[in-house]
Amino acid sequence: MPLIIVFTECGLELIPKQIRSHPAVKKNLSPRIYASQLLDNTLHFSAMKDLKNFQKRGRPDITHICLLNALGSSLNKSGNLIVFVHTFNNKIFRFNPEIRITRNYNRFKGLIAKLLIDGRIEIESLKLITPFEGNLQNLIDNFKDPEVCILSSKGKRIKDYEELFIKDINKNYIAFIGGFQKSGFSKYIKNLSDNLISISEYSLDAWVATNRIITYYELIYGIL
Ligand SMILES: C[S@@+](CC[C@H](N)C(=O)[O-])C[C@H]1O[C@@H](n2cnc3c(N)ncnc32)[C@H](O)[C@@H]1O
Repeated sequence: MPLIIVFTECGLELIPKQIRSHPAVKKNLSPRIYASQLLDNTLHFSAMKDLKNFQKRGRPDITHICLLNALGSSLNKSGNLIVFVHTFNNKIFRFNPEIRITRNYNRFKGLIAKLLIDGRIEIESLKLITPFEGNLQNLIDNFKDPEVCILSSKGKRIKDYEELFIKDINKNYIAFIGGFQKSGFSKYIKNLSDNLISISEYSLDAWVATNRIITYYELIYGIL
């Protein structure tokens, strides 16, 4: 019954060692400030150009907006949404549906840097963000009767939102949504499922695609 969303290949990582001495990085970096340790292409663009796949990296803002939209939805408030974040470096985290993600972008960056350093976020033994030990295939296998779709502008276009989900309380729908700016899913992600679905004739921002599929799911289950 719950919808499982995996924000995939999110541009979230600590500043890689190889560019830590670049002037554009050194200018803002402080070992005491978590937020300054996260790669952010607005600040580090000139240093990032030599990084492999740099177009997909250093975009914490995308994950931030996606999480605010997903966790603030009626679907989440009704207890029917499970959210995972998978990073560019293949780390996977599960977000507690009750976590209140800070609205402030800089604080969000601090939270994510702390998460990547400590491996989890807990407050007084309340687990807010926990690591998923395993890869994305293990994540899929963890759910009974999973139905996986990869949302992509290059996928098979649906004509009606009801094509996307069939009301079936025994099914676990898992939707992969890219948490990156440009370029497509890696081969590793595409190998997880043949079911590539497009929900628009346009290439949408990840948070717009997120809102849409959550709304579709809410409409199918009458969650308003
Ligand atoms: C900014 S896009 C990534 C760039 C890429 N050009 C694309 O559209 O796949 C971020 C994510 O939003 C989702 N998305 C964007 N447009 C979509 C569409 N027309 N149908 C389904 N998902 C879409 C995909 O999951 C995509 O990875």
